[in-house]
Amino acid sequence: MQTPDTQRLSQLAAEYQTPLWVYDATVIRARIHALKQFDTIRFAQKACSNTHILRLMREEGVKVDAVSRGEILRALAAGYDAVDEPSGIVFTADLIDRDTLETVVAHQVPVNAGSIDMLHQLGEASKGHRVWLRINPGFGHGHSNKTNTGGEHSKHGIWHSDLPEALAAIAQHGLKLVGLHMHIGSGVDYTHLESVCGAMVDLVRQAKAAGHDLHAISAGGGLSIPYRDGDATIDTEHYFGLWDAARKEAETVVGHALGLEIEPGRYLVAESGNLIAEVRATKNAGSNHFVLVDAGFNELMRPSMYGSYHGITVVPANGQASAAKPTVVAGPLCESGDVFTQADGGVVTPRDLPAAAVGDLVIFHDTGAYGASMSSNYNTRPLIAEVLVDGDASRLIRRRQTVDELLALENV
Ligand code: LLP
Repeated sequence: MQTPDTQRLSQLAAEYQTPLWVYDATVIRARIHALKQFDTIRFAQKACSNTHILRLMREEGVKVDAVSRGEILRALAAGYDAVDEPSGIVFTADLIDRDTLETVVAHQVPVNAGSIDMLHQLGEASKGHRVWLRINPGFGHGHSNKTNTGGEHSKHGIWHSDLPEALAAIAQHGLKLVGLHMHIGSGVDYTHLESVCGAMVDLVRQAKAAGHDLHAISAGGGLSIPYRDGDATIDTEHYFGLWDAARKEAETVVGHALGLEIEPGRYLVAESGNLIAEVRATKNAGSNHFVLVDAGFNELMRPSMYGSYHGITVVPANGQASAAKPTVVAGPLCESGDVFTQADGGVVTPRDLPAAAVGDLVIFHDTGAYGASMSSNYNTRPLIAEVLVDGDASRLIRRRQTVDELLALENV
């Protein structure tokens, strides 16, 4: 959890207008550093896919994961390639559409396959292509049911008992197995970790017994961050220690060294980001006091989608702090669910905040992950600008979209 530099953010809001995303490069570098013990840090760019953020990652030696053709093209635009091993880019998915298949073949991007059909389609198109197998170990965990990616309710990964069939597809097409991958959910409960590591070693044993060699294992992503006061901060040493022990055990099975990858999204960028909005109206509705700001769930979807909590700072325009009162912070969209202070299931949850007036700024904390990347054009609202701060410097890394650009798509 980061305490926003309100003075700096107010200056940026004045310069670039609201609503505005602001990221801090120093925070991103610190999070990368905390995971340096892993052989490969692979950024799950879905969390924040701006090419300038990807370039920063590349400069810091971080590799990248892509989950769509667009994300592959973003990685290429940021200077990544798929030539070496470990590859700069890996494509992870449970299906591959025709355009993406063409792109992974053209750029030789290794594919982390979450279904056996993908292996057949890839094998037919590209003999000898590098593949990872994403395995669903039969259990998972997430901060919400929507982010739990393991277990039988989840569409993700190859079901663990189908591993022999996946390995047979690899052999049939002469595909090259790079490694085994597991991502059981986002915002995970670390009590699961020992079972995940154990399941990984067991899978490596099965692959070896079936006559397959591999070069790496991936711990996936899922590392949580402290969104609220009192939330635990992950102990990355301990996390690495558990995975390193699993890797060593797996090495005794295969009889040679294995690379250890980690694939975080949220952990690397969430705390680097703030969303700045301006208060444009206040009102009361019975017992509820509403503060209406110029950002909506089309910008920051997490509270509406998962009931997620983001810390909020009110920055008074007149510089005078006022007493706190229970406040519902909401946006401009034509839906009652466009509320930033809500619990899962859409229950409006007032929060004690300093009384805010029109013209004050409202800062939503820890929004660097799954903020801008999940934004939409709902209500014909153009995507907003993004700014990257690095020490004393700051620069625009995405300009604001215009309504004309949206309308131009329909000039057919
Ligand atoms: N690897 C795979 C295969 C994934 O599916 C994901 C996230 C990650 C890595 C990165 O997970 P992370 O380290 O960020 O937890 N929109 C939701 C999160 C969805 C995560 C989807 N997959 C949110 O705002 O909380």
